[in-house]
Order: sequence, then structure tokens, then C-alpha cells
Amino acid sequence: MKQYNLFDLKPIETKSYRAIRHDIVRKKQNSNSNEVHHPLQKINQIHKVLSEENKSNKILELFSGRGNLTKHYQKFGDVSCYDKKYKKTGDSFLVFHNLIFDKKKFNVIDIDAYGFPNRFFPDIYLLIDNGYLFITMPKPSVNILNGITQTHLYSYFGVSNPCKNTIINQIVLWGLCHWRKVELIDQIDLKSIWRFVFKVVKVKATEYTGVKNR
Ligand SMILES: C[S@@+](CC[C@H](N)C(=O)[O-])C[C@H]1O[C@@H](n2cnc3c(N)ncnc32)[C@H](O)[C@@H]1O
Repeated sequence: MKQYNLFDLKPIETKSYRAIRHDIVRKKQNSNSNEVHHPLQKINQIHKVLSEENKSNKILELFSGRGNLTKHYQKFGDVSCYDKKYKKTGDSFLVFHNLIFDKKKFNVIDIDAYGFPNRFFPDIYLLIDNGYLFITMPKPSVNILNGITQTHLYSYFGVSNPCKNTIINQIVLWGLCHWRKVELIDQIDLKSIWRFVFKVVKVKATEYTGVKNR
């Protein structure tokens, strides 16, 4: 929207509420603010789910940022870290295809992106046969959804503003695309995001369906 100053009649640009809110969130993200990263709650969840007795996990962090979570994951095994800005490893939405091509396997995968993680599904399951998927999911209902986001959500969930149960059920269902039994085992509610943990186990198609191959 343009406003005009009557004294010099030069146009003054004013920002929409959405643009101002976006700028504030971006500033907080860039300064690693706890208000947007919620490191303590995420760290507590990691310690709750993973066993300190097992230090031999192979852990993949696809959005490791400045390492708030990495130093905790390191207590549970070897951590492979990726981050476009801080590790200069490129776009993790593409990198994970390389990891699949290289036949890498992990016991723990952490997806802590700023936006929706939907583009990792269903193929992220090819990287994990038995273990845990930690995932950050923005709450569609608290975000102001523009047409592009609505269409993106519709293409993955069949509705443009999916509720929590629809999202969880779809993530579980995507597991079956690669014969993974997926179960939600923990969740935390962090203002505008959820942090979910899914247990993932590779199953035999014959056993899972009860169909016997001749
Ligand atoms: C929510 S922060 C991750 C925070 C980190 N897990 C922590 O707790 O400190 C998201 C991170 O994703 C990185 N990032 C954004 N887009 C990316 C992309 N396409 N590929 C890889 N990393 C990306 C950003 O640099 C940022 O560090």
C-alpha cells in the first residue's frame, strides 16, 4: 500500500502486517533466539526418547543450524550434520536424495527445518530401517496461509489446512510406501510448531500383510 507525504509528495512504502511479522521472525531466527528455536524443549525430548546406554547410533541432522541439538545428539552416537547456511552442505531437501543413492542408513533422523518438511516424504524412510524420526512441523492453523502454501498442503494432505491428526496419520501412512511401520511415540507443542517423534521399523511385506509368496 502506498501513502503520500503532502509536503514532498514522494511515495512512502508501508509494509503489511504479514510482512512485518515475517521480518520479526526472520530476525529472531538469524540471532538463534530461543523464542523460535526452543532448544531446551527439543533437548529434553531427545534425552527422554533416546537411551544413554546406546552410544552407537548413527544420527542424521538435516538442519543442524549452529549446533544447539548436535552437542546433545553426540552423547548418543556419531552425528552427520547438514545445514545450508552454517555447514555449507547445500539444500538438504536435495542432499537427502544423494544419501539414499549412496545407500546410507541411520538410526536417528532429525528434520528441524523452518518450513514444512513434507517434501522429505515418503522417501526419507529409505534412510532408516529401525530407529527414530524427530520432526518439526509448523502448525498450519496458526500460520497465515497464502495460496501457494494452501496448495502445497493440499497436494500432500488432501486438504489446504490440515489438523494435527491428519498430518500424523499421513506421516504414518507414508511409511507403508516403503514398508516401514511408523508410530508416533512423543510430541511437544511449541507455540507455532509441533515437534513429533516417530518410531520407525522396517517390516516384511509378506508378514505385514499376511500374504504368503509361493
Ligand atoms: C530451525 S533451524 C535449525 C536449528 C537447529 N536444529 C538447532 O536446534 O539449533 C533451521 C536451519 O535450517 C537451515 N536451512 C534453511 N534452509 C535450508 C535448506 N534448504 N537446506 C539445509 N539447511 C537449511 C538454516 O540455516 C537453519 O540453521
